[in-house]
Parts: sequence; structure tokens; C-alpha cells
Amino acid sequence: MNNTKQMLRDDALKGKTIVVTGGGSGLGKAMTKYFLELGAHVAITSRNLDKLKNTAKELERETNGKCLPVQCDVREYDQVEAMRDTVIEEFGKVDVLLNNAAGNFISPTERLSHRAFDVILDIVLKGTKNCILAFGKHWIDNKQTNVNVLNIVTTYSWTGSGYVVPSAAAKAGVLAMTRSLAVEWAKYGMRFNAIAPGPFPTKGAWDRLMPGDLQEKFDMSKKVPLKRVGEHQELANLAAYLVSDFSAYVNGEVITIDGGEWLMGAGEFNMLSEITEDQWDDLEKMIRAKKNK
Ligand code: HXC
Ligand code: NAP
Repeated sequence: MNNTKQMLRDDALKGKTIVVTGGGSGLGKAMTKYFLELGAHVAITSRNLDKLKNTAKELERETNGKCLPVQCDVREYDQVEAMRDTVIEEFGKVDVLLNNAAGNFISPTERLSHRAFDVILDIVLKGTKNCILAFGKHWIDNKQTNVNVLNIVTTYSWTGSGYVVPSAAAKAGVLAMTRSLAVEWAKYGMRFNAIAPGPFPTKGAWDRLMPGDLQEKFDMSKKVPLKRVGEHQELANLAAYLVSDFSAYVNGEVITIDGGEWLMGAGEFNMLSEITEDQWDDLEKMIRAKKNK
């Protein structure tokens, strides 16, 4: 099976302008590329302007699309408003906000300074809040409808996870905002959805979550029932659907794309996947024998 095939038809996002925070690298870049291929105008934003410019140039060359690099630290509300205004000046309007920017690293929580905890909350939770407020108020003031926000969270937004506690707390907050505003701001013609990816290797994430020999020690694909990590195009396909008009009736949803990973950790007896057929024959005999006693 080919997991890197593109899903939607060519002009599926034609006429849409999409802002992707953290769009210069990793999953943000992969989603941006597909949005451009589907005919959208895309603005990519993050702190590192050189990286954004290089990505925009590369993606424009590959897709013949229009990609605007705009520097913006999502932690700073003034910068977010300025970024929004720059994009509107260039493209005339914005239809979709994709909150993808994030910060994260593994650490025992007791080793974190209060500033280290804050830096993650500030990028993920405050940054998403800043973007939602800046774009949401603009859409409300201008009576612009048929717009939507897509937030990238994680599966530990609802389970929590040790060793990434600031990220878990921040992503849980983003998920709560997604569901809350899906209801409150539907009256303004806005939809809010989220995607919870499982492991999709990127340099940004793997450098901070799987440094050194951790990759060999903890093979992420082994934790997934489908026994593989995700392909970036698979995530891009889902994101393109959720920001497009094809998903006009999907609102307040979080869609997990993790090959079943988080449920494998959750199900009480899922460890029994390791039992062989011969062992099952013996176990069945033992269980049936008990019934007759
Ligand atoms: C402990 C650390 C630390 C570490 C930084 N700090 N790294 N503490 N262990 N490994 C502390 C610093 O000492 C400082 O506290 C505070 O955190 C802020 O650090 P700065 O370096 O000044 O912050 P900044 O330059 O803003 O960088 C932010 C960052 C960095 C989050 C630390 O990693 C970054 O820029 N990340 C962006 C990209 C990213 O993280 N991508 C991965 C997303 S993956 P003190 O007290 O010393 O001042 C993801 C996937 C989830 O979210 C799910 C996967 C399955
Ligand atoms: P990544 O390449 O490191 O992406 C993070 C992006 O956020 C970078 O482009 C970074 O750019 C930007 N960013 C960080 N701080 C910022 C700030 N203050 N202001 C603006 N932009 C900022 O990692 P990724 O793996 O692609 O992650 C993308 C998203 O997917 C994140 O939300 C992450 O939590 C989520 N996710 C990833 C995985 C995975 O397996 N990869 C799994 C679950 C969820 P600058 O450094 O230039 O600012």
C-alpha cells in the first residue's frame, strides 16, 4: 500500500488563504506543501525568518503556488497582529488558521526551572490563544464567515504523559479551547477542529524527544499496533480535508492519527498481542479445564 498518495482533488483549496504557524519545518512544512498543491495561498510564520524564506522558495518552486514567509513569535500578541495584517495586505484575506507551532523537550519535571515550564506553555498554549484571538476578532469584526481554525495537539492531550508535562498541560488547554470555541463561535461562521498525531518523525521533535541512542532504545514504531510511524502526507491529507469545505459539518472534533498507538497503551489486556498461537492453545485448554471444576 502507498501511504504517501495525495487524497483530495487538485483545486480543493483554491481561493483559500491559510496561515500555518511553525510552517517552516517538519509537519507544518509538509502540510503547507500539500495546501499549495491544492491551490491555496499559504503564509508560513515562525521566529526564524531565514528558514521561512528558504522553505517558501523551495515550496513555491516545487508547487508553483504562492507562499509568504512572515516572521512572528506567537508568544507576542503584537507580533501576531502584525503578522495577520501583513498576510491580509498580501493576500486580501485569511480563511484558515493552522496552529502548528510548538516547543517541547523531554525532562523529569523536577529538573525544570519555572522558566523552562513557562517557555513551553507560552509557545503552545499562549501562542495558540494569541493567534485565535487575533484572527477570531478580525473575522468577527469583518463579518467574515466560512472560516476555520485547525489546532495540532497530541494524543497525550487527554491521557497526559510523564516527562513532557508542560507540553501535555499546554496541549490539553489547546484541546479545551478547540471544543469550547467550536460551540461559542459557531454563530460567527467559524469552525474549530484539532488533529492529534502519534509519532511522525521530524528533526525538530526527534532532536528533543529522542536524542542520542533513545531512538534505538525505544523504537516508536513498536508502540504502534500497525507497527510503523506516520507518513507526513497522511497527516497532510487529513489536515487538508479538515480545513477544506468538504468538512463543513465537522466542528469541535479532534481526530487521532496514530495507528492505534494511544489505545494500545490504554487497553487492559493489550499486552496479550505478544502471546503466540501455541501459547493460546495451552491457555485455552487451561481456561476450559477450570470451567468443568
Ligand atoms: C531543561 C531546558 C531544556 C532542557 C531549555 N531549557 N532546554 N531545561 N532541559 N532540555 C530551559 C532553559 O534553560 C531556560 O530556562 C528555558 O528552558 C528557556 O530556554 P531557552 O533556550 O531560552 O528558550 P527558547 O530559545 O525560547 O527555546 C524554546 C525551546 C526550544 C522550547 C527550549 O527547544 C525550541 O525552540 N523549540 C521549538 C521547536 C520544538 O520544540 N519542536 C518540537 C515540537 S515536538 P532557564 O531557567 O535556564 O532560564 C512536539 C511533539 C509532541 O510537540 C508529541 C510527539 C509524539
Ligand atoms: P518542528 O519542526 O520543531 O515544528 C515546530 C515549529 O514551531 C518550528 O517550525 C518552529 O519554528 C515553530 N515555533 C517554535 N516556537 C515558536 C514561536 N515562539 N513562535 C512561532 N513559531 C514557533 O516539529 P514538528 O514535529 O513538525 O511539530 C509540529 C507540530 O506537530 C507541533 O504542534 C507538535 O506538537 C505536533 N506534533 C508532532 C508530532 C511528531 O511526531 N512530530 C506528534 C504529535 C504532535 P522556529 O524555531 O523558526 O520558531
